[in-house]
Amino acid sequence: MLEAAGVSLDLTGTGSFLEPSHLDALAPRVAAAARGLADGTCAGHEFLGWLDLPSRIDEPALAACEAAAVRARADAEVCVVVGIGGSYLGARAILDALPPARGAGLEVLFAGTGLCSAALDRVLRQIANRDFRVCVVSKSGTTLEPAVAFRALRAQLRKRYGDRGAAARITAVTDARRGALRQLADAEGWETFVIPDDIGGRFSVLTPVGLVPLAMAGVDVRGLVDGARAMQSACAGEGLRDNPAHLYAATRYQLYTQGFTTEVMSSFHSGLHNLQEWWKQLFGESEGKQGQGIFPASTVFTTDLHSLGQYLQDGRRCLQETFLCARQAVPGLTVPADDGADADGLGYLAGRSFDEINWLAFEATRQAHIQGGVPCQAISVAEVTPQTVGALLYMFEKAVGVGGLLLGLNPFDQPGVEAYKLEMFRRLGRPA
Ligand code: PA5
Repeated sequence: MLEAAGVSLDLTGTGSFLEPSHLDALAPRVAAAARGLADGTCAGHEFLGWLDLPSRIDEPALAACEAAAVRARADAEVCVVVGIGGSYLGARAILDALPPARGAGLEVLFAGTGLCSAALDRVLRQIANRDFRVCVVSKSGTTLEPAVAFRALRAQLRKRYGDRGAAARITAVTDARRGALRQLADAEGWETFVIPDDIGGRFSVLTPVGLVPLAMAGVDVRGLVDGARAMQSACAGEGLRDNPAHLYAATRYQLYTQGFTTEVMSSFHSGLHNLQEWWKQLFGESEGKQGQGIFPASTVFTTDLHSLGQYLQDGRRCLQETFLCARQAVPGLTVPADDGADADGLGYLAGRSFDEINWLAFEATRQAHIQGGVPCQAISVAEVTPQTVGALLYMFEKAVGVGGLLLGLNPFDQPGVEAYKLEMFRRLGRPA
């Protein structure tokens, strides 16, 4: 068991699948990958701004996000965050994991996360009678999904508040110089925040991409950054066994080379579902290249044990599993005693917390899956807090940097994402 920054990594569930010597043999390659990241010589080195970002986030940067949040709360109840992929998944993951108390901030809705008219219509109906503002996030400033949703929302803002009122209710998070969104923002005088050039979308959650909407929602962004900083120092060296990001990366990579080509991240905490979605993008976009890469999938248990449980236990044996666990969620919630004659037969559970029952379900599931031929890692935190979530975010970012390099890939580009866009634009008749 390795513990750092409030996160524990437990490899006991891989014991019957992995020779420790195989893992240790990877240590020099892991160290070389870590060195390539640290000295900026690895593939994709122009996108390494995330590596020391937590320690570089300074007081003025945090204060600017918080000040924008104070202004936003003065004139709106709802903020519609418009973005897709790395431009929204981080904020949504954290909001889901750390839902702010009612009244702590604006309600956040997401739009532009696809092209589905029903989804956009739902958001338009949700803001129909409420004061709202828009935070549009796009690094390129040209992505179609958020751009068309933003156009629709801007029309609503203008209709409701007039041109000047609309302009005062838009925050744009985008490139410092390039892209249509930057040009519009400058021309219209919107509040803006910059996405650094050297940080790609899926690594941008701790830039204004995540921090501005989260501050508006009332999330403790300082705690988040503190947790990421703690994990940044825990993952700074080149070691394998003492570095949670490296150990996780090496273990999943070694299992991949043995044929375990799909990694299922399984959680027993419903609030972590969107963190798993964020993780899927981070790993899928970073590693799925040149016919290679571990396919990232996810489940939320015990719910999905009643749907995908059969496959996990007994289906094709190409699965490795990473449990993402929180030991405690609402400790005071216990199974009530029954005054009657224990007709439902649950008397043996009376007084026990749901958290305890859930944890035992995790341990039982892990054992069953190991017996079924699935190597299991477990990443756990005592509680889901801003600090532990920040630590997890950084740990996964560092792990995917090292993991992509172990695969011999550039983990920081996403050339494959262009293929659908080219064909879609051709069919839409976009002018050349
Ligand atoms: O990780 C990535 O780079 C992508 O998921 C992008 O974030 C996504 O495509 C959105 O791009 P943009 O922020 O340029 O609109």
